[in-house]
Amino acid sequence: MSIITIDFANDTSIRPATLLTTGRVLVLLLYLMVPFRLQADDGYELWLKYTRIADPTAAASYRRQLQGWRVVSEGATAEVARTELRRALPGLFGKTIPEAANGVNHQLVIGTSQSPLLASLQHTVVGLAPDGFVITHTRIQGKESIAIVSATETGMLYGVFHFLRLLQTGQPLAEVSSAPKTKVRILNHWDNLDRTVERGYAGFSLWDWHKLPGYIDPRYTDYARANASIGINGTVLTNVNANALVLTPMYLEKVKALADVFRPYGIRVYLTARFSAPMELGNLPTADPLNKAVRAWWQDKIREIYTYIPDFGGFTVKANSEGQPGPQNYGRTHADGANMLAEALQPYHGIVMWRAFVYDHQVPEDRTRQAYNEFKPLDGKFLPNVMVQVKNGPLDFQPREPFHPLFGAMPATALLPEFQLTQEYLGFATHLFYQAPLFKECLDADTYARGKGSPVSRVIDGTLDQHTLTGMAGVANIGNDRNWCGHPLAQANWYAFGRLAWDHQLSPSAVADEWIRMTLHQDAVVVQTIRAMLLATRETTVRYMTPLGLHHIMGWNHHYGPAPWIKDKERADWTSVYYHRADAQGIGFDRSSRGSNALGQYHPPVQALYNDLQQCPESYLLWFHHVPWSHTMRSGRTLWDELCYTYQQGVDSVAWMQTRWKTLHGKVDDALHTQVTALLAVQHQEATWWRDACLLYFQQFSKQPLPTGIPKPARTLEDYQRLEFPYAPGIRPKW
Ligand code: GCU
Repeated sequence: MSIITIDFANDTSIRPATLLTTGRVLVLLLYLMVPFRLQADDGYELWLKYTRIADPTAAASYRRQLQGWRVVSEGATAEVARTELRRALPGLFGKTIPEAANGVNHQLVIGTSQSPLLASLQHTVVGLAPDGFVITHTRIQGKESIAIVSATETGMLYGVFHFLRLLQTGQPLAEVSSAPKTKVRILNHWDNLDRTVERGYAGFSLWDWHKLPGYIDPRYTDYARANASIGINGTVLTNVNANALVLTPMYLEKVKALADVFRPYGIRVYLTARFSAPMELGNLPTADPLNKAVRAWWQDKIREIYTYIPDFGGFTVKANSEGQPGPQNYGRTHADGANMLAEALQPYHGIVMWRAFVYDHQVPEDRTRQAYNEFKPLDGKFLPNVMVQVKNGPLDFQPREPFHPLFGAMPATALLPEFQLTQEYLGFATHLFYQAPLFKECLDADTYARGKGSPVSRVIDGTLDQHTLTGMAGVANIGNDRNWCGHPLAQANWYAFGRLAWDHQLSPSAVADEWIRMTLHQDAVVVQTIRAMLLATRETTVRYMTPLGLHHIMGWNHHYGPAPWIKDKERADWTSVYYHRADAQGIGFDRSSRGSNALGQYHPPVQALYNDLQQCPESYLLWFHHVPWSHTMRSGRTLWDELCYTYQQGVDSVAWMQTRWKTLHGKVDDALHTQVTALLAVQHQEATWWRDACLLYFQQFSKQPLPTGIPKPARTLEDYQRLEFPYAPGIRPKW
């Protein structure tokens, strides 16, 4: 069912009264006939659209159980819950469900376990992780009731959103007991104070720094609602490549204004701390973390921050990485730097998220080994309120990487995994790429740290090494585009991140299902079609960009498009040839025990899995091995032929997605359909470009013809090499 815009009934300027009345009647009739929305879908409402429940049987059953509702707690968060229900229920049911202050049979009662009315349910939330909630069928004051109860106000709000999700996705209103598996579920905005977003492809920053604190864009509230609805409870407002100015009073006023908006939604605000801030803002001659004056400066600064924002969450820090200042400038360690900040934050319960994304081109060492080399010896040296933030893989958010070897190597340290929702290396916001399978691949990977059954998920949820400070960080893909994330379907990545940070055991398929039903459509065939497309995107992209374990062969600096030819730059570890190492013999980076031995940083069973060229899963082949062009693959083809066919499969899979999407014409919103159709066409062109440019380039080394079925590239290699994109999005104006 497509969504129709009807506005003539409101246009009183040109219509006589009778026509106006007829118009109104018509609108009413149409509304009654059309079970869904009457507005064009611009994506703004995200998954909180609350469209009419399509299945009349389900709607009737819900209605029987929902004769009235009330929130029995007081406070700002309770008010947020009320407002959400007032918005959601009429949308879902097409009519208001009364707020029944005095109770009614078959009611929904919402509150914390401290509410006298819900006191008898206190035991149900005992033992749940903070902000967990229960949805239970019970009798309250003799009336049949469904109760949503939590020990905390935020948990109560999460329960409300969960309940609404059950209605939105047509689930039975069965008993639920749910609690987050991680504690700090946080978005990292790489947003600059000038509103550009590093690696952002959805417009400019949401934070209108210039107008803050005077003007509070209503969008801040919608951002908070969306996050709370999926359990995200923290936001780092500023870029990891930090600007110290955000720590000055003028900006702290602005940060406070945002924190005030987010607080009722259970969201804490965090900032990035530029390590040299004591020099830049405090005029100190040094930022040495062991220097007394530097330590005092940070203590004062942190005290000041808490006068503005009493529940300030803490800092994310990128130090001694890609030119950022850090403790190593003074011969100190990452632990010295992190602990200095942690000590100052500790009285206020703030935390430090210290990034392990470090590498140095002057160190003659495989870049993927460097973070482990630096951080592993520091295990146990960080204060308890420090988390070491580790990217999912050891390189940099590539379409496929093995899990980072630090997972499983720092049992005495709280590790915070970092995923990149913004699609820096995944086709920007042009390509459809549903990331839940990528997140899951990392979370499910077995580190073998404590023998078989030690997956990354158990490292980061604290159960493997008994940590209580746990979390998951996602580099936000959000900007001020009307639909928030650029590609109309890219919101699914924001959604999936939140859901998996809450419960890493959810399947990508189930999460996709929820998101589609809430955001796009409830019809089973539509859901099934889009879900199949979403689930295919990860492998598809890997195939047309970086098949068989290739990595980091994208455009220079902006990272747009293919460029395996990048070489001779000031840093070898920013070139492509450093990573693919194609030569007359073969292709790939030997990280086995015969090569850089990056594999040696993993536990022995992982090493055993990848070290032997014959055993190594082919999806990681060229990540771990330099492989002869003539190597026989499992298909029986040579490596060269397999490479060609895999690129081709990637292109074909995009064509398959185009065909699937076509079948939805007239079934999903027209504007949305048109936009995704156009973007898929671009994705197809760009996939073809990746295939052609990469194969032409690698062919210089393999010296073999393209096998049958692989089309001749449309342009020459030189043509592809000449392409330049000076204004590709996502790079800082001055790099
Ligand atoms: C990537 C990205 C940078 C970013 C860096 C980081 O290298 O290209 O823009 O600053 O990651 O994570 O710090």
